[in-house]
Amino acid sequence: MSILVLGGAGYIGSHAVYQLMDQGKDVVVVDNLETGHRESIHPEAVFYQGDIRNKEFLRTVFEKESIAAVIHFAANSLVGESMDKPLQYFDNNVYGTQVLLQVMVEHHVKCIVFSSSAATYGEPESVPITENLPTNPTSAYGETKLTMEKLMKWTAQAHDVRFVSLRYFNVAGARETAEIGEDHRPESHLVPIILQTALGQRPHITIFGEDYDTPDGTCIRDYVHVEDLISAHILALDYLLENGKSDIFNLGSSQGFSVKEMIAAARTVTGKEIPVTIGDRRAGDPSILIASSEKAKQVLGWKPERTSIDQIIQDAWRWHVAHPSGYGKVVKK
Ligand code: UFG
Repeated sequence: MSILVLGGAGYIGSHAVYQLMDQGKDVVVVDNLETGHRESIHPEAVFYQGDIRNKEFLRTVFEKESIAAVIHFAANSLVGESMDKPLQYFDNNVYGTQVLLQVMVEHHVKCIVFSSSAATYGEPESVPITENLPTNPTSAYGETKLTMEKLMKWTAQAHDVRFVSLRYFNVAGARETAEIGEDHRPESHLVPIILQTALGQRPHITIFGEDYDTPDGTCIRDYVHVEDLISAHILALDYLLENGKSDIFNLGSSQGFSVKEMIAAARTVTGKEIPVTIGDRRAGDPSILIASSEKAKQVLGWKPERTSIDQIIQDAWRWHVAHPSGYGKVVKK
Protein backbone atom coordinates (compact mmCIF):
# COMPACT_ATOMS: atom_id res chain seq x y z
CA MET A 1 0.00 0.00 0.00
CA SER A 2 1.21 3.50 -0.82
CA ILE A 3 0.93 6.94 0.70
CA LEU A 4 -0.46 9.41 -1.83
CA VAL A 5 1.20 12.83 -1.51
CA LEU A 6 -0.73 15.55 -3.31
CA GLY A 7 1.48 18.54 -4.01
CA GLY A 8 4.61 16.40 -3.58
CA ALA A 9 6.67 18.71 -5.82
CA GLY A 10 6.19 21.75 -3.58
CA TYR A 11 8.50 22.98 -0.84
CA ILE A 12 6.81 21.19 2.05
CA GLY A 13 5.40 18.27 0.04
CA SER A 14 8.80 17.35 -1.41
CA HIS A 15 10.26 17.17 2.11
CA ALA A 16 7.41 14.85 3.09
CA VAL A 17 8.12 12.55 0.15
CA TYR A 18 11.83 12.33 1.02
CA GLN A 19 11.12 11.56 4.69
CA LEU A 20 8.50 8.93 3.85
CA MET A 21 10.91 7.28 1.41
CA ASP A 22 13.69 7.42 4.05
CA GLN A 23 11.36 5.31 6.19
CA GLY A 24 10.93 2.76 3.40
CA LYS A 25 7.34 3.72 2.57
CA ASP A 26 5.93 3.47 -0.97
CA VAL A 27 4.98 6.93 -2.16
CA VAL A 28 2.83 8.14 -5.04
CA VAL A 29 3.16 11.84 -5.89
CA VAL A 30 0.53 13.93 -7.66
CA ASP A 31 1.36 17.50 -8.67
CA ASN A 32 0.25 19.76 -11.52
CA LEU A 33 3.69 21.46 -11.50
CA GLU A 34 2.08 24.90 -11.61
CA THR A 35 4.06 26.04 -8.59
CA GLY A 36 5.92 22.82 -7.79
CA HIS A 37 9.20 21.78 -9.37
CA ARG A 38 9.80 18.52 -11.23
CA GLU A 39 13.39 18.49 -9.93
CA SER A 40 12.16 18.33 -6.33
CA ILE A 41 10.30 15.04 -6.83
CA HIS A 42 12.10 12.09 -5.27
CA PRO A 43 13.52 10.07 -8.18
CA GLU A 44 12.12 6.80 -6.81
CA ALA A 45 8.58 8.04 -6.13
CA VAL A 46 5.79 7.13 -8.57
CA PHE A 47 4.73 10.42 -10.15
CA TYR A 48 1.52 11.49 -11.88
CA GLN A 49 1.37 14.99 -13.32
CA GLY A 50 -2.16 16.33 -13.11
CA ASP A 51 -4.61 18.57 -11.32
CA ILE A 52 -6.69 17.40 -8.37
CA ARG A 53 -9.68 19.35 -9.72
CA ASN A 54 -9.72 16.88 -12.62
CA LYS A 55 -11.88 14.11 -11.19
CA GLU A 56 -11.19 11.64 -14.01
CA PHE A 57 -7.44 12.10 -13.60
CA LEU A 58 -7.67 11.58 -9.84
CA ARG A 59 -9.89 8.51 -10.27
CA THR A 60 -7.27 6.99 -12.56
CA VAL A 61 -4.61 7.44 -9.89
CA PHE A 62 -6.80 5.84 -7.20
CA GLU A 63 -7.67 2.97 -9.56
CA LYS A 64 -4.10 2.24 -10.62
CA GLU A 65 -2.50 2.58 -7.20
CA SER A 66 -3.28 0.94 -3.90
CA ILE A 67 -3.62 3.96 -1.58
CA ALA A 68 -3.53 3.52 2.21
CA ALA A 69 -3.79 7.23 3.08
CA VAL A 70 -3.46 10.71 1.61
CA ILE A 71 -1.30 13.67 2.63
CA HIS A 72 -2.72 16.78 1.00
CA PHE A 73 -0.37 19.71 0.29
CA ALA A 74 -1.78 20.68 -3.12
CA ALA A 75 -2.84 24.32 -2.79
CA ASN A 76 -1.98 27.91 -3.62
CA SER A 77 -0.34 29.32 -0.52
CA LEU A 78 0.65 32.98 -0.88
CA VAL A 79 -1.30 35.31 1.40
CA GLY A 80 -0.76 38.46 -0.69
CA GLU A 81 -1.60 36.76 -3.99
CA SER A 82 -4.81 35.38 -2.47
CA MET A 83 -6.07 38.92 -1.87
CA ASP A 84 -5.71 39.70 -5.60
CA LYS A 85 -6.98 36.32 -6.85
CA PRO A 86 -9.51 35.03 -4.28
CA LEU A 87 -11.52 33.11 -6.89
CA GLN A 88 -8.43 31.25 -8.10
CA TYR A 89 -7.63 30.37 -4.47
CA PHE A 90 -11.15 29.09 -3.75
CA ASP A 91 -11.21 27.13 -7.00
CA ASN A 92 -7.82 25.47 -6.59
CA ASN A 93 -7.85 24.98 -2.82
CA VAL A 94 -11.50 24.44 -1.89
CA TYR A 95 -12.89 22.89 -5.07
CA GLY A 96 -9.74 20.77 -5.42
CA THR A 97 -10.25 19.39 -1.92
CA GLN A 98 -13.92 18.75 -2.62
CA VAL A 99 -13.03 16.61 -5.66
CA LEU A 100 -10.34 14.82 -3.69
CA LEU A 101 -12.75 13.94 -0.88
CA GLN A 102 -15.32 12.68 -3.39
CA VAL A 103 -12.74 10.39 -4.98
CA MET A 104 -11.48 9.21 -1.57
CA VAL A 105 -15.04 8.31 -0.53
CA GLU A 106 -15.64 6.48 -3.84
CA HIS A 107 -12.45 4.45 -3.36
CA HIS A 108 -12.88 3.82 0.39
CA VAL A 109 -9.64 5.60 1.31
CA LYS A 110 -10.28 6.62 4.90
CA CYS A 111 -7.34 8.70 6.16
CA ILE A 112 -6.15 12.17 5.20
CA VAL A 113 -3.46 14.39 6.73
CA PHE A 114 -4.10 17.96 5.71
CA SER A 115 -1.82 20.96 5.35
CA SER A 116 -3.56 23.85 7.13
CA SER A 117 -2.27 27.17 8.39
CA ALA A 118 -2.02 29.60 11.25
CA ALA A 119 -3.71 31.94 8.77
CA THR A 120 -7.00 30.30 9.86
CA TYR A 121 -6.78 32.26 13.15
CA GLY A 122 -6.26 35.74 11.69
CA GLU A 123 -5.25 38.31 14.33
CA PRO A 124 -5.19 36.15 17.48
CA GLU A 125 -6.96 37.13 20.69
CA SER A 126 -3.95 35.92 22.70
CA VAL A 127 -0.60 34.14 22.30
CA PRO A 128 0.54 31.40 22.44
CA ILE A 129 -2.24 30.30 20.10
CA THR A 130 -4.11 27.16 21.08
CA GLU A 131 -6.38 25.23 18.75
CA ASN A 132 -9.54 26.34 20.56
CA LEU A 133 -9.04 30.07 19.84
CA PRO A 134 -11.54 31.66 17.42
CA THR A 135 -10.79 31.40 13.70
CA ASN A 136 -11.19 34.72 11.87
CA PRO A 137 -8.97 34.64 8.78
CA THR A 138 -7.76 38.01 7.53
CA SER A 139 -6.84 36.69 4.07
CA ALA A 140 -8.61 34.77 1.32
CA TYR A 141 -5.86 32.16 1.66
CA GLY A 142 -6.65 31.63 5.35
CA GLU A 143 -10.36 31.46 4.55
CA THR A 144 -9.74 28.73 1.96
CA LYS A 145 -7.78 26.66 4.49
CA LEU A 146 -10.54 27.05 7.07
CA THR A 147 -13.15 26.09 4.47
CA MET A 148 -11.10 23.03 3.49
CA GLU A 149 -11.04 22.00 7.16
CA LYS A 150 -14.83 22.36 7.28
CA LEU A 151 -15.21 20.26 4.12
CA MET A 152 -13.23 17.52 5.85
CA LYS A 153 -15.20 17.84 9.08
CA TRP A 154 -18.58 17.33 7.38
CA THR A 155 -17.23 14.60 5.09
CA ALA A 156 -15.83 12.78 8.13
CA GLN A 157 -19.25 12.96 9.83
CA ALA A 158 -21.12 11.58 6.83
CA HIS A 159 -18.60 9.05 5.53
CA ASP A 160 -15.99 6.69 6.85
CA VAL A 161 -13.14 9.21 6.48
CA ARG A 162 -10.92 10.59 9.26
CA PHE A 163 -8.62 13.60 9.01
CA VAL A 164 -5.82 15.32 10.87
CA SER A 165 -5.46 19.00 10.04
CA LEU A 166 -2.06 20.51 10.83
CA ARG A 167 -2.01 24.28 11.21
CA TYR A 168 1.52 25.39 10.33
CA PHE A 169 3.17 28.51 11.64
CA ASN A 170 6.23 29.80 9.73
CA VAL A 171 7.93 26.91 8.01
CA ALA A 172 11.61 27.36 7.09
CA GLY A 173 14.85 25.40 6.63
CA ALA A 174 15.62 22.60 4.21
CA ARG A 175 16.66 18.97 4.14
CA GLU A 176 20.15 18.77 5.65
CA THR A 177 21.61 17.22 2.48
CA ALA A 178 20.43 20.31 0.51
CA GLU A 179 18.95 18.24 -2.36
CA ILE A 180 15.64 20.03 -1.92
CA GLY A 181 14.65 23.38 -0.43
CA GLU A 182 12.42 26.43 -0.67
CA ASP A 183 11.84 28.05 -4.07
CA HIS A 184 8.64 30.06 -4.57
CA ARG A 185 8.05 32.20 -7.68
CA PRO A 186 7.60 34.99 -6.79
CA GLU A 187 9.30 34.62 -3.40
CA SER A 188 7.50 36.37 -0.55
CA HIS A 189 8.78 34.50 2.52
CA LEU A 190 11.16 36.12 4.94
CA VAL A 191 13.93 33.52 5.25
CA PRO A 192 14.55 32.96 1.52
CA ILE A 193 14.43 36.72 0.90
CA ILE A 194 17.02 37.31 3.65
CA LEU A 195 19.26 34.61 2.16
CA GLN A 196 18.86 35.85 -1.42
CA THR A 197 20.01 39.22 -0.09
CA ALA A 198 22.98 37.53 1.59
CA LEU A 199 23.84 35.96 -1.79
CA GLY A 200 23.79 39.43 -3.40
CA GLN A 201 20.74 38.60 -5.54
CA ARG A 202 18.78 41.44 -3.95
CA PRO A 203 20.27 44.81 -2.99
CA HIS A 204 18.52 44.81 0.38
CA ILE A 205 15.65 43.31 2.33
CA THR A 206 12.74 45.60 3.14
CA ILE A 207 11.42 45.21 6.67
CA PHE A 208 7.65 45.60 6.49
CA GLY A 209 7.09 48.03 9.36
CA GLU A 210 9.05 48.76 12.55
CA ASP A 211 6.23 50.40 14.47
CA TYR A 212 4.51 47.26 15.78
CA ASP A 213 3.86 46.86 19.50
CA THR A 214 6.78 44.45 19.95
CA PRO A 215 10.16 44.98 21.71
CA ASP A 216 12.04 46.03 18.52
CA GLY A 217 8.96 47.21 16.59
CA THR A 218 9.05 44.38 14.00
CA CYS A 219 6.66 41.43 13.67
CA ILE A 220 7.25 38.29 15.69
CA ARG A 221 6.74 34.83 14.17
CA ASP A 222 7.19 31.22 15.20
CA TYR A 223 9.64 29.48 12.83
CA VAL A 224 9.48 25.71 12.59
CA HIS A 225 12.00 23.54 10.70
CA VAL A 226 10.44 21.84 7.68
CA GLU A 227 11.93 18.47 8.71
CA ASP A 228 10.32 18.70 12.19
CA LEU A 229 7.07 19.75 10.55
CA ILE A 230 7.14 16.66 8.34
CA SER A 231 7.89 14.34 11.24
CA ALA A 232 4.55 15.52 12.70
CA HIS A 233 2.81 14.51 9.44
CA ILE A 234 4.23 11.02 9.67
CA LEU A 235 3.10 10.75 13.31
CA ALA A 236 -0.35 11.99 12.24
CA LEU A 237 -0.47 9.36 9.52
CA ASP A 238 0.37 6.60 12.01
CA TYR A 239 -2.22 8.03 14.43
CA LEU A 240 -4.96 7.88 11.78
CA LEU A 241 -3.92 4.43 10.53
CA GLU A 242 -4.20 3.25 14.16
CA ASN A 243 -7.80 4.55 14.26
CA GLY A 244 -7.16 7.95 15.86
CA LYS A 245 -10.11 10.35 15.67
CA SER A 246 -10.28 13.41 13.43
CA ASP A 247 -8.55 16.39 15.01
CA ILE A 248 -6.69 19.67 14.48
CA PHE A 249 -3.16 20.47 15.73
CA ASN A 250 -0.91 23.53 15.64
CA LEU A 251 2.67 23.03 14.51
CA GLY A 252 5.21 25.59 15.60
CA SER A 253 8.29 25.67 17.77
CA SER A 254 6.51 27.83 20.40
CA GLN A 255 9.21 30.51 20.34
CA GLY A 256 8.94 33.89 18.69
CA PHE A 257 11.58 35.77 16.70
CA SER A 258 11.22 39.27 15.31
CA VAL A 259 12.11 40.16 11.72
CA LYS A 260 15.19 42.04 13.01
CA GLU A 261 16.24 39.04 15.13
CA MET A 262 15.96 36.80 12.07
CA ILE A 263 18.15 39.14 10.02
CA ALA A 264 20.72 39.32 12.85
CA ALA A 265 20.78 35.51 13.11
CA ALA A 266 21.23 35.24 9.34
CA ARG A 267 24.17 37.69 9.46
CA THR A 268 25.84 35.44 12.04
CA VAL A 269 25.16 32.22 10.12
CA THR A 270 26.16 33.53 6.68
CA GLY A 271 28.88 36.01 7.66
CA LYS A 272 27.30 38.45 5.17
CA GLU A 273 26.21 42.02 5.75
CA ILE A 274 22.54 41.75 4.52
CA PRO A 275 21.55 45.38 3.91
CA VAL A 276 18.14 46.46 5.21
CA THR A 277 15.63 49.20 4.44
CA ILE A 278 12.51 49.97 6.39
CA GLY A 279 9.24 49.94 4.48
CA ASP A 280 5.55 50.28 5.28
CA ARG A 281 3.57 47.60 7.05
CA ARG A 282 2.31 44.81 4.78
CA ALA A 283 -1.49 44.68 4.78
CA GLY A 284 -2.92 41.90 6.89
CA ASP A 285 0.26 41.06 8.86
CA PRO A 286 -0.58 40.27 12.51
CA SER A 287 2.05 41.62 14.94
CA ILE A 288 2.73 38.40 16.87
CA LEU A 289 2.03 34.77 15.97
CA ILE A 290 3.35 32.11 18.33
CA ALA A 291 1.95 28.59 18.50
CA SER A 292 1.17 26.42 21.41
CA SER A 293 2.04 22.97 20.06
CA GLU A 294 1.32 21.20 23.33
CA LYS A 295 -1.59 19.28 21.82
CA ALA A 296 0.56 17.81 19.01
CA LYS A 297 3.16 16.85 21.60
CA GLN A 298 0.62 15.23 23.92
CA VAL A 299 -1.59 13.46 21.39
CA LEU A 300 0.80 12.70 18.52
CA GLY A 301 3.99 12.44 20.60
CA TRP A 302 5.69 15.09 18.44
CA LYS A 303 9.18 16.19 19.53
CA PRO A 304 10.62 18.96 17.33
CA GLU A 305 14.39 18.51 17.28
CA ARG A 306 15.67 21.45 15.26
CA THR A 307 14.35 24.37 17.29
CA SER A 308 17.51 26.50 17.15
CA ILE A 309 16.91 29.42 14.81
CA ASP A 310 20.57 29.27 13.76
CA GLN A 311 20.12 25.68 12.62
CA ILE A 312 16.95 26.51 10.69
CA ILE A 313 18.75 29.35 8.90
CA GLN A 314 21.92 27.25 8.45
CA ASP A 315 20.00 24.47 6.69
CA ALA A 316 18.17 26.97 4.49
CA TRP A 317 21.50 28.68 3.71
CA ARG A 318 23.10 25.37 2.66
CA TRP A 319 20.27 24.92 0.12
CA HIS A 320 20.60 28.50 -1.20
CA VAL A 321 24.37 28.25 -1.58
CA ALA A 322 24.10 24.90 -3.38
CA HIS A 323 21.21 26.12 -5.60
CA PRO A 324 21.60 29.89 -6.03
CA SER A 325 18.99 29.88 -8.82
CA GLY A 326 16.68 27.53 -6.92
CA TYR A 327 15.37 24.82 -9.21
CA GLY A 328 16.55 26.75 -12.27
CA LYS A 329 15.12 29.49 -14.37
CA VAL A 330 12.62 27.38 -16.29
CA VAL A 331 9.49 29.40 -17.06
CA LYS A 332 6.51 27.41 -15.79
CA LYS A 333 3.17 27.22 -17.63
N1 UFG B 1 8.72 40.21 6.04
C1 UFG B 1 9.45 41.35 5.84
N2 UFG B 1 10.04 41.53 4.63
C2 UFG B 1 9.93 40.63 3.61
C3 UFG B 1 9.16 39.45 3.83
C4 UFG B 1 8.56 39.28 5.06
O1 UFG B 1 9.58 42.21 6.73
O2 UFG B 1 10.48 40.87 2.52
C5 UFG B 1 8.08 40.00 7.36
C6 UFG B 1 6.58 39.93 7.29
O3 UFG B 1 6.02 41.23 7.37
C7 UFG B 1 6.27 39.06 8.50
C8 UFG B 1 7.48 38.14 8.61
O4 UFG B 1 8.50 38.75 7.85
O5 UFG B 1 6.21 39.85 9.63
C9 UFG B 1 7.23 36.77 8.06
O6 UFG B 1 6.68 36.90 6.75
P1 UFG B 1 6.47 35.67 5.76
O7 UFG B 1 5.88 36.21 4.49
O8 UFG B 1 7.71 34.85 5.66
O9 UFG B 1 5.42 34.77 6.53
P2 UFG B 1 3.95 35.14 7.07
O10 UFG B 1 4.06 35.20 8.56
O11 UFG B 1 3.35 36.29 6.38
O12 UFG B 1 3.16 33.89 6.52
C10 UFG B 1 3.32 32.63 7.05
C11 UFG B 1 3.16 31.58 5.95
C12 UFG B 1 1.77 31.65 5.37
C13 UFG B 1 0.77 31.56 6.47
C14 UFG B 1 1.02 32.62 7.52
C15 UFG B 1 0.11 32.49 8.68
O13 UFG B 1 4.12 31.80 4.96
O14 UFG B 1 1.60 30.58 4.46
O15 UFG B 1 2.33 32.49 8.02
O16 UFG B 1 -0.19 33.73 9.18
F1 UFG B 1 -0.46 31.73 5.97
